[in-house]
Amino acid sequence: MKADLLIHHVHLATLDDPAGGWGELRDAALLVQAGRIAWLGPRSALPAGLQAAREHDGQGGWLTPGLLDCHTHLVWAGSRAAEIERRWQGASYEEIARSGGGIVSTVQATRAADEAALLAASRPRLQALLRDGVTTVEIKSGYGLDTETELRLLRVARRLGQQAGVQVRTTFLAAHALPPEYRGRGDDYIELVCREMLPAAHAQGLVDAVDAFCEGIGFSPAQTRRVFEAARALGLPVKLHADQLSDLGGAALAAEFGGLSADHVEYTSEASVQAMARAGTVAVLLPGAYYCLRETRRPPVEALRRHGVPMALSTDCNPGTSPCTSLLLMLHMGCTLFGLTPAEALHGVTRHAARALGLQDECGRLSVGLRADLALWAVDHPRDLACQFGFQPRLASWAGGQAVAG
Ligand code: NIG
Ligand code: FE
Repeated sequence: MKADLLIHHVHLATLDDPAGGWGELRDAALLVQAGRIAWLGPRSALPAGLQAAREHDGQGGWLTPGLLDCHTHLVWAGSRAAEIERRWQGASYEEIARSGGGIVSTVQATRAADEAALLAASRPRLQALLRDGVTTVEIKSGYGLDTETELRLLRVARRLGQQAGVQVRTTFLAAHALPPEYRGRGDDYIELVCREMLPAAHAQGLVDAVDAFCEGIGFSPAQTRRVFEAARALGLPVKLHADQLSDLGGAALAAEFGGLSADHVEYTSEASVQAMARAGTVAVLLPGAYYCLRETRRPPVEALRRHGVPMALSTDCNPGTSPCTSLLLMLHMGCTLFGLTPAEALHGVTRHAARALGLQDECGRLSVGLRADLALWAVDHPRDLACQFGFQPRLASWAGGQAVAG
C-alpha cells in the first residue's frame, strides 16, 4: 500500500460515534492518500509493505478531526471597542443598535475598506483560529448591506481560505441589519436582497448557504420567510440567527425550510426544538456572544438533548458581540456556561459542526474516505481540550492532507 503521509505514535479520537462517544483508539496510526483518510487503526495492524512518502511522529499526542468553526462573521473593518465599553457602562446591545451603532457602525467602516484592506484586517483572525486546530471556517457576509460590498466580503472570505489552504464556506447574510439608506423601508430592502443581491452573489458562485437575523432589531419572521423562499428558489440551503434576544419562532421557521442550522437559540421554545428535531436542523450554540452580552437565558440544552437535536459550538467571531478567535475557548464555555459535557463540546466542533454546514459526508470525523482534516494535540485526553482554556495544545494540523501553517 502507498500513502502520501503516515501519522504514527498517536492515539485517535475519531468522534465517529453517533452515540456521542470519543471513538478512542490508542496506539494507533493513520494514513493519508490524495488528501483523504486512506486507513486508520491500531499501529500493530498497519498494512504490510506500506510505502509512505512522508511520516509524522505524533509524539504520543491525540489526533482528532480538524475543528470546524461553523458560524463566523470574520471579515470586517473597523472596531467596536468603544461600544463594548458603553455596554459595560450599562447600555444594552439593542439600545446601541437602535441609536445607529452596532452592526450598522461596522457596515460604515466595511463599506469604506477595499479588498486588500479587508484581507489584511481579517487574515490574523483566521490565523488565530487555525492555531486552535480549525481546518474549516464558515464566514458570513452581512457588513456590506449593498450588493457591491456584500460580494466583496464573500470574495475576501473565499480568498482567505485559498491563501491559508483551509476550507472556507461562505454564507450570504445581507438580511443582517437594515442599512441606514433604507430606514423605515425594511420590506423594500428585503426586496432588494431577494431580487438583486442574492441572485448576483449566487451567479458568481459565492454562496454556500443563506442566513438572516430574525429579531426585533433585525428582520421579522415574515421578512425572513421571503429571504428563505428566495434561497429555496435558487436551490440554496438556509440557516438562521434565531431566537437570540427573544422568541420569534425563528428556529421553527428555519426547520420549516429544512434549515442546516438555527443559531444562538437562547429563547427557543420546546415546540421549536421539536420542529428542529423533525427537520434534522442543528442547534449552533454561541457561548461567546452569550457571555459578551451578559445574557442570562441559556439555550435549552436539556430539551435539545431530549429531542436528539445535534448541538454545534462556534465562536460567532464578530466585532460587536463576540470578538473572539478561539474555538477551544468556546469548548470550555460550552461546558461551563451551557452545561455541555466535554464529549458533547468536541462533537459540537467536529461532527455536528460539519452537519451545520452540510459537510457531514466530507469532514468532522476520522473515517476512511473523508477529507484528511486533522488536528494533533499535546493533551493527556481530548477532554482536556474543553477542560482547559488559554493553553495552546495544538502540535500540528492538516487540511486535505496538507500541513496548516500558523
Ligand atoms: O451573531 N446577532 C447578529 N449578528 C451577530 C452580531 C453582529 C454584530 O453585532 O456585529 C451575532 O451575534
Ligand atoms: Fe452571528
